Amino acid sequence: MRASSGSQTGPAGLAVRGSTAAVANASTTVAAPEAAPEAVPQLRRAEPCTLVIFGAGDLLHRKLIPSLYHLMLDGLLPDDFAVIVVAREQMDDSTFRTKLRDALKTFLPDHADFKPKVWEGFSARLSYISGELADPGTYDTIRERLAETDARLPGRTGRLFYLAIPPSTYEETINRLAESGIAPRIPDPKQRPWVRVIIEKPFGRSLGSAGALNACVRRAFAEHQVYRIDHYLGKETVQNLLVFRFANSIFEPICNRQHVRHVQITVAESVGVEHRGKYYEEAGVVRDMFQNHLLQLLTLVAMEPPVTFSADAVRDEKVKVLHAIRAITPAVMHDYAVRGQYGPGTIDGKPVPGYREEPNVARDSGTPTYCAIRFMIDNWRWHDVPFYLRSGKRMPRRVSEIAIQFRTPPHLMFPQPEGRVMEPNTLAIRVQPQEGISLRFEVKVPGVDVKMASVDMDFSYAEAFGELDHDAYETLLLDCMLGEATLFTRSDEVEAAWAVVDPIIDFWANKRPDHFPNYAAGTWGPEVANEFIAREGARWREP
Ligand code: BG6
Repeated sequence: MRASSGSQTGPAGLAVRGSTAAVANASTTVAAPEAAPEAVPQLRRAEPCTLVIFGAGDLLHRKLIPSLYHLMLDGLLPDDFAVIVVAREQMDDSTFRTKLRDALKTFLPDHADFKPKVWEGFSARLSYISGELADPGTYDTIRERLAETDARLPGRTGRLFYLAIPPSTYEETINRLAESGIAPRIPDPKQRPWVRVIIEKPFGRSLGSAGALNACVRRAFAEHQVYRIDHYLGKETVQNLLVFRFANSIFEPICNRQHVRHVQITVAESVGVEHRGKYYEEAGVVRDMFQNHLLQLLTLVAMEPPVTFSADAVRDEKVKVLHAIRAITPAVMHDYAVRGQYGPGTIDGKPVPGYREEPNVARDSGTPTYCAIRFMIDNWRWHDVPFYLRSGKRMPRRVSEIAIQFRTPPHLMFPQPEGRVMEPNTLAIRVQPQEGISLRFEVKVPGVDVKMASVDMDFSYAEAFGELDHDAYETLLLDCMLGEATLFTRSDEVEAAWAVVDPIIDFWANKRPDHFPNYAAGTWGPEVANEFIAREGARWREP
């Protein structure tokens, strides 16, 4: 996590000011700063290094290359920097560079960012090795290429290996890397040149397999060398959770069981599984979204203030939350979790197929594409406060949000019209899109009667700072090159998260659903999810 990542960011924008609120459709927007706050000076650039990326698939083309290019455009890459991509396909450097240039033009979020001069400088640092991951010869070639690169870039200090390959090949690649000597174990984090390895998600597919992968990683590397990626942690608004909670004094004292009725975390997607059927059939929504992204959001909302802003202090607190989550046993599963699968429906006015009609998906598949879970955190702060988490594919809109719903006043002296249900005060953190934070509260509607309405005080990132213009992978790649591990998952953390979701996955694996599909694409999930939360005396927020 860095202090600044471009001209649009600046801490002053976290404050919302102005008093020009006007009631409109019972929702009030408080004006954001008129002008973007002053940019914070650029504090850090990546350390000189060579990045070796294993795998030349979607991730490389859609995320890694655009992010690296963007870092270069922002002047955040050092002169002594090179990228070597290792993949199976036979290709020379020039064909490879042309392929990447085309991909960059397609996947850069803002096409105007493609500058031929910058690309020229960037592509000169790119080279390609074709080889099999299981072949020791591949690692000899990498060693030679690294030596050539080192000779050209005498200032390089680090080596970063990125496993952007299928999870089934992680262990083999880690073992080969270790045997080859090109990625040695370095016990002392201060030793230079450094060697680090980035491992993509999913990290294991159960507690057992994550434990085995951790053991393999531990044999090869010291923990400080390992960066397990969860790209949600690189999102600006997710990082802001730490600042919002721990750099303000007014919210933290009310974020506890005395004041909070419940917390809802929603990660809804309008996309279906599309070409990822093969992977998704094996994964399902709990592995794909809950074990990592949603539980990460939960830990950041629920954790105690760390003593320092250091990787281990922050991660220690997150792990404590995971350990405090109440185990969900088969006998009570029904009270804690429900699942769903989308059928055909309509999104944005267009018909879309059901999950079972997607390519590489079984026609009678029992894989859940939606899930809602109630987590209880058994500690002093959160005792008896439910955390409702839900995520699904093919919902009406893409929206990720954390909503903290406060208790209603113990006694209301204002008479309420028949049928009006008072809305609770809610602090909503919009993770994406329209990133921002809003606080919902009650006001008197102007007039001679005492009528109340709920309004929102709203902070929008885009209004305060301009559109967020960098991808989570930019932040994460830069952090790896700087040795900042706060936004990466530690070995005990990843295992603790698996321990939370494993019982749910196992329970459902043994119980074929006979009611799938149970929600139409383009709706907010199955009816069972509404019944589930209604039994608790609550209802899902309309995001
Ligand atoms: C990935 C999941 O980790 O996150 C995908 O494998 C999901 O299924 C994606 O679509 C969501 O990420 P984002 O950044 O688009 O919210």
